[in-house]
Amino acid sequence: MKQTYINELQDKISEEVTLKGWLYNSRSSGKLVFPQLRDGTGIVQCVVFKGNVSEEVFEVAKSAGQESSIIVHGTVKEDARSPIGVEIDVTDLEVVQNSTDYPISPKEHGTEFLMDNRHLWIRSKKQHAVLRVRHTIIKAVRDFFDSNGFILADTPIFTPAACEGTTTLFEVDYFGDDKAYLTQSGQLYNEATAAAFGKSYAFGPTFRAEKSKTRRHLTEFWMVEPEVAYANYEDMMDLGEDMIIHVVKAVLEERREDLETLERDISVLENIQKPFPRLHYDKCVEILQEGFEKGELENKFEWGGDFGSPDETYLSAQFDQPIFVHHFPTAIKGFYFEIDSERPECALGIDLLAPEGYGEIIGGGERAMDLEYLEKQIENHNLPKEDFEWYLDLRRYGSVPHAGFGMGIERCVAWMCGIEHVRETIPFPRMLYRLKP
Ligand code: 4AD
Ligand code: MG
Repeated sequence: MKQTYINELQDKISEEVTLKGWLYNSRSSGKLVFPQLRDGTGIVQCVVFKGNVSEEVFEVAKSAGQESSIIVHGTVKEDARSPIGVEIDVTDLEVVQNSTDYPISPKEHGTEFLMDNRHLWIRSKKQHAVLRVRHTIIKAVRDFFDSNGFILADTPIFTPAACEGTTTLFEVDYFGDDKAYLTQSGQLYNEATAAAFGKSYAFGPTFRAEKSKTRRHLTEFWMVEPEVAYANYEDMMDLGEDMIIHVVKAVLEERREDLETLERDISVLENIQKPFPRLHYDKCVEILQEGFEKGELENKFEWGGDFGSPDETYLSAQFDQPIFVHHFPTAIKGFYFEIDSERPECALGIDLLAPEGYGEIIGGGERAMDLEYLEKQIENHNLPKEDFEWYLDLRRYGSVPHAGFGMGIERCVAWMCGIEHVRETIPFPRMLYRLKP
């Protein structure tokens, strides 16, 4: 018999079905066993009545261990008490492999233990819900760019040079002679593809040797990076805003149940709307200094500094929408930023800070257009000029104002799901102290 998936059961009331999956949980009482079957699309309660099955099947159903792989045959019955509206009256049940002593029992476990067992932990309800939200976010992001005239142009993972500073580079041996690094961002290559296609984007894994242990940092994370020719930093705020609105809508439409499983306050997401406040860095400094004077911040923030996570949290707490910050000090930004011609100490960078303390989820801005300025910047940042010659060609041959940004998928997922730490937003997180499983 053809396999039916649990998320199709509501349309199959009174029909005979075959379900294939794993035993999520089970209890029994006298002549009844209630195995809960999961198959990746949902969980359904099955009812095995001793009178309806052979002696052997009843015993197998009763003794199968948690996460045993099982195949169930039965009839779909409407049931008002079931979260999915149906249960299965079992006529036959086969154990494909009996699992004993499954390490993740329904009792509480510490995070380290669960992380060590990540390959199994992803089967549990909440983790499952987070990863489904991730799927929807990625799909929504791609749909957004695909339907707005962007060409997907993937960028290399092995790169000869840094994009986001040399302190977080992962070096790899590239056949002995040449040094290679794992990419920190596809941006520099996106600038080339934008000059070829007008609007392009890259979506792939990026790497940062982050030596800090925070709830927002992974060493390997996925970033979506659009780049647009003939665009400025304000256009990037418009684009980022529209992208976020599109993503929030998709998550609310497709993943409401998962958000409920995660006990997410859905009203916060429903409230997200355009326009997002846009704050000049100067204004942020003012807000942060007031916060310090009121005793709401521990340290006094000074112009020129980079926001720490308490600063970001404080800033976003003043608003109920994500906020854009623009015009960061040139001195704390990457070599490639365009500067404000009237105030060269300010770079035309933008960040989007998510609400509820989730911090920066988008970083980007306008790129320097002028060849000589960039040559000087490369020198000032102590970058090896020969590795950037190809990049400088983009300024030699048809340089235009252009801009782009990058959004870290994991931070976006953490925010949408309302979960504390980015380590649960990717199937197998890579962090300072975690390379396994
Ligand atoms: O602000 P970042 O460093 O910007 C860039 O890499 C630009 N070159 C992107 C561009 O303009 N094309 O990183 C962009 C985003 C951050 O806002 C954050 O969401 C995410 O990438 N991010 C991280 N996410 C998880 N772990 C880390 N270690 C991250 N570092 C950055
Ligand atoms: Mg940034």
